[in-house]
Amino acid sequence: MQDQVLLQVEDLRVQFPTREGIVRAVEGVSFEIKTGTTLGIVGESGSGKSVMAYALLQAVARPGKIVGGRVLLNLAATMQNGQGEIVDLTALDPRGKKIRSIRGKEIAMIYQEPMTSLSMMHTVGFQIMEAILLHQNVNKQEARQLAIEMLGRVGIARPEQRVDSYPFELSGGMRQRAMIAMALVCTPRLLIADEPTTALDVTTQAQIMELIQELQQEIGMAVLLITHDLGVVAETCNEVVVMYLGEVMEKANVISLFKDPLHPYTRALLRSIPRLGHGKNWELEPIEGMVPDPYNRPSGCPFHPRCPDMMPGVCNVKPLTTTQMVDGRTVRCHLFNE
Ligand SMILES: Nc1ncnc2c1ncn2[C@@H]1O[C@H](COP(=O)(O)OP(=O)(O)O)[C@@H](O)[C@H]1O
Ligand SMILES: [Mg+2]
Repeated sequence: MQDQVLLQVEDLRVQFPTREGIVRAVEGVSFEIKTGTTLGIVGESGSGKSVMAYALLQAVARPGKIVGGRVLLNLAATMQNGQGEIVDLTALDPRGKKIRSIRGKEIAMIYQEPMTSLSMMHTVGFQIMEAILLHQNVNKQEARQLAIEMLGRVGIARPEQRVDSYPFELSGGMRQRAMIAMALVCTPRLLIADEPTTALDVTTQAQIMELIQELQQEIGMAVLLITHDLGVVAETCNEVVVMYLGEVMEKANVISLFKDPLHPYTRALLRSIPRLGHGKNWELEPIEGMVPDPYNRPSGCPFHPRCPDMMPGVCNVKPLTTTQMVDGRTVRCHLFNE
């Protein structure tokens, strides 16, 4: 593992055994995130983005299970061990002490819906203080002070009063800010943000993204940003991973991806979004067909039934492989196999 690599995901697989059959939600995903950078994960609904994110933290909902691969985290050097330590998160007990010391402290997660991580029963201050007391060596008074400071930094007015508010007393945008405060108060080295602004209005969306970027620069943390908003990806990400049915179809730096998308799926995704400068009359082209039912995974390339460049006898039969391109780009498509 290279020095600047914070997290390296290798051939990760997650499955849900269900009555209807096995759902292969994450089917051999590999990528890495370098310290301080932002990696975007894009793909239609049902691509396995959220399941993958939960898997990184050993938090896949039952009956889901990690069935293969590794998630290597480069732990920061501490006073005790002098040099960094590499742990495979998939090998840790999901309820054990080690993963609990990593969740929140090294890797924090924020969600589309703040109530996934905020409890209705406690004040936001109480919940932020809990996170602080779990990972930092401070007393209650200091923790409360830190919580107030953090609420102020995420743009909540009168934080010394808001600290005693319950989540239901806050607006959607304010709740999102409170959740971000809770996630960032222990200065994690990686923030996983799963569609963090989807539920918000456009203005609040922009403010929240700006806030995440500001805090990212301050703390120097890496961000794994899951979003279906390619505009946000263009503005914030260094690298992009395009997922479809649990597989990484294309991986590239953000400039190459937008300038020269290789995979027919990426090209279709890019045609389906509004682009700056095209005005209101720009016709969007939705991607043809639907994401297949997860129990009936197409043979060959999973995108072949919807692909405009499908080669009969190849794409619908031959198993896919990932092709390495220049610049560290990869593409998983039979068009690039020769
Ligand atoms: N608890 C579950 N049981 C069975 N299948 C699930 C469960 N959670 C997610 N899945 C399946 O895993 C696949 C990926 O889902 P998800 O990661 O939520 O997609 P995305 O976040 O990209 O929209 C979907 O086919 C979904 O139906
Ligand atoms: Mg999701």
